[in-house]
Amino acid sequence: MELFDNQGARPGQELISVPTTNSSVNQADLVKVLQSTPVVPLVKADDPDIAVKTSRALAAGGLSIVEVVFRTDRALDCLAAVAREVPEVIAGAGTVLTAEQARQAFAHGAKFIVSPGLDEGVVAVAKEHGAPVFPGIATASELQKAYNLGLEYVKFFPASIAGGIPAIKALASVFRTMRFMPTGGVSAANLADFLAVPAVIACGGSWLTPDDAIAAGDYSAITKLAEEAVKIAASD
Ligand code: 3PG
Repeated sequence: MELFDNQGARPGQELISVPTTNSSVNQADLVKVLQSTPVVPLVKADDPDIAVKTSRALAAGGLSIVEVVFRTDRALDCLAAVAREVPEVIAGAGTVLTAEQARQAFAHGAKFIVSPGLDEGVVAVAKEHGAPVFPGIATASELQKAYNLGLEYVKFFPASIAGGIPAIKALASVFRTMRFMPTGGVSAANLADFLAVPAVIACGGSWLTPDDAIAAGDYSAITKLAEEAVKIAASD
């Protein structure tokens, strides 16, 4: 794997290696980056130019991973543009609902997959690509299924509604090897609390990319939100 250093590392943030655009990213690579900057911002755009600008604004604020969500008609084009034009971030695909979408995500440059729920077909496609996958779970049964599929990392969604920190702690006390990415209701106000839970590997969310800032073309607001998240994560 070809690597370069994240020159934009903030004080207190470890200098890490971010895989370059054309290389693949395995679970260990991604975990290393998440341990340094445990925040995964959602990028929702219907225009590749906006997706690229948003991702650059996040990278300027010190974030190294983005999740381009499949919630718009042009999400695949947005993902491809970010993967191609923003080499300073690792771009993954989010809101991946089917195995076919997962295949398309990889064909358009995704380095990892995030799903709101647990689908064996999606997990299988990610495994075929040797790529990280974070299926969503909200219950012990879903987590047990993920465990029995050989997974170690899951998205905990929707985190605030599914029981928040107490639920993660209860699940982690039983599934001692599992690690969680809470998403859904995470914000700058509760990020530190979520990250303080040892079983939490990272937090995801849309609070870093508010629709109104994007509509106004206010990318500096997004950079500021990213900087704030990096600071909170570093003080954890
Ligand atoms: C997701 O898909 O991860 C969630 O929609 C994000 O939830 P949030 O908007 O509350 O951050």
